[in-house]
Amino acid sequence: MSIQRLVFASLACFSLVSAASAADAGKDLYTKTCAVCHAAGIAGAPKYGNAGDWQPRIAGGVPKLYGSALKGTAKGMPPKGGNLDAPDADVKAAVDYMLASVKTAPAAVKPAAPTTSPAAAATSAAPPAAQQARPVDVSANTSGASAADINSFNRLLKPVGKRNPPPAEDGIHDPANDGTLALMAPLAAYGPLPKSLAGNRINWVKAIEENKINPRWDRNDPNATPVVIDLNIVREVKGSMPDVVYPHKQHTEWLDCSNCHPGIFVPQKGANAISMAAILLGEKCGVCHGKVAFPVSECRLCHSKKKDVRPVQAAATAAK
Ligand code: HEC
Ligand code: HEC
Ligand code: HEC
Ligand code: HEC
Repeated sequence: MSIQRLVFASLACFSLVSAASAADAGKDLYTKTCAVCHAAGIAGAPKYGNAGDWQPRIAGGVPKLYGSALKGTAKGMPPKGGNLDAPDADVKAAVDYMLASVKTAPAAVKPAAPTTSPAAAATSAAPPAAQQARPVDVSANTSGASAADINSFNRLLKPVGKRNPPPAEDGIHDPANDGTLALMAPLAAYGPLPKSLAGNRINWVKAIEENKINPRWDRNDPNATPVVIDLNIVREVKGSMPDVVYPHKQHTEWLDCSNCHPGIFVPQKGANAISMAAILLGEKCGVCHGKVAFPVSECRLCHSKKKDVRPVQAAATAAK
């Protein structure tokens, strides 16, 4: 299939462009592979430039961090960020690149936080623990959804009174940033959009289909348009649940291929082990569903393909 070749060809290019110096290679790999999760802190990934996220980890020693980056962790860091072709040295360089971001930018810590250097953190466990507690306090005061919530990975599953709070109280936007106050409140903005029964109560797929919204594709170029591919992948499910149909069309209207390939999914049908357990832990489809796309409670949106009557059932019916 030609699309497939194209994708693999472009994946192969990733290793060709690795630049001369280790620092460049680290930055390149970070941009291509790691940023998908580490730029915004998806699925609990320590954020690039956020000293508070990194210091408790640096305290465990940099060699341990290299190990996690190469072999992955049980809490959602995929081995080599999913880019298994990346040379070990480049992966380590990408770790160095992320660590440099917190050494050179202590200002990224919340203003009131003491600027503990990574070296100081390594000698004492107390300061990182105090800093970790700080962001939790902030969100607990404003939205009631602390990072320690069991369901923090599934934040779209919310009781009625806690849905769609104003930006300064949603636990996503920085309440200390003036820009946050300039944002339109969701309850006003969502009024004219098609409704759904889950998540933030808007059917975003329909909103695009009906031209109710026209999201800008590229921050810099107002005329850029998405590359939409209409390719459904059916994932057969054992047992009685209907099979899962993964639709590329509805995703590529919002997302660039690089949002999923290769960081979250190898672009090959059946090549990824996906399970409900992983999704509930905020991995695979759960990187987005429950956070920025409809939540896992909407079984039938994913499990949408009815199975043919199974032979056993058919035989049982015939025997009656
Ligand atoms: C699909 C999302 C994703 C991608 C892509 C990704 N990471 Fe991560 N990373 C995570 C998550 C989630 C964690 C937190 C896991 C944990 O707490 O153990 C993490 C944690 C880490 C840590 C800290 C591990 C520790 O022991 O505390 C390092 C180092 C790291 N990632 C490096 C990288 C590098 C280098 C890349 C790119 C080559 C990368 N990551 C790509 C999701 C990702
Ligand atoms: C929201 C995530 C996501 C996005 C965005 C995405 N894909 Fe995929 N893609 C998947 C999943 C999931 C699979 C199935 C993997 C599996 O079955 O293990 C897949 C499979 C594929 C396959 C393999 C098809 C086959 O029959 O083996 C190709 C090729 C592909 N994607 C290309 C693309 C291209 C090109 C883009 C951008 C225009 C893109 N994908 C965007 C999630 C995504
Ligand atoms: C975001 C999409 C999505 C939603 C929502 C979703 N599932 Fe799944 N489910 C999947 C995928 C993908 C698989 C893996 C299919 C495979 O084996 O390839 C899966 C697998 C399963 C399996 C097979 C066993 C396993 O754990 O892998 C069961 C049972 C299941 N889902 C039940 C449910 C139920 C019940 C709900 C609603 C509470 C639900 N799912 C909601 C995507 C989803
Ligand atoms: C990178 C983020 C991301 C990942 C990963 C992702 N999705 Fe989605 N998905 C979205 C967004 C965004 C939408 C559109 C908004 C919405 O419907 O909430 C969407 C929409 C959908 C829809 C369309 C529903 C409709 O109303 O037509 C289905 C079905 C779906 N996703 C299933 C899956 C399955 C199954 C997986 C895993 C194999 C997956 N998604 C992985 C972000 C993602």
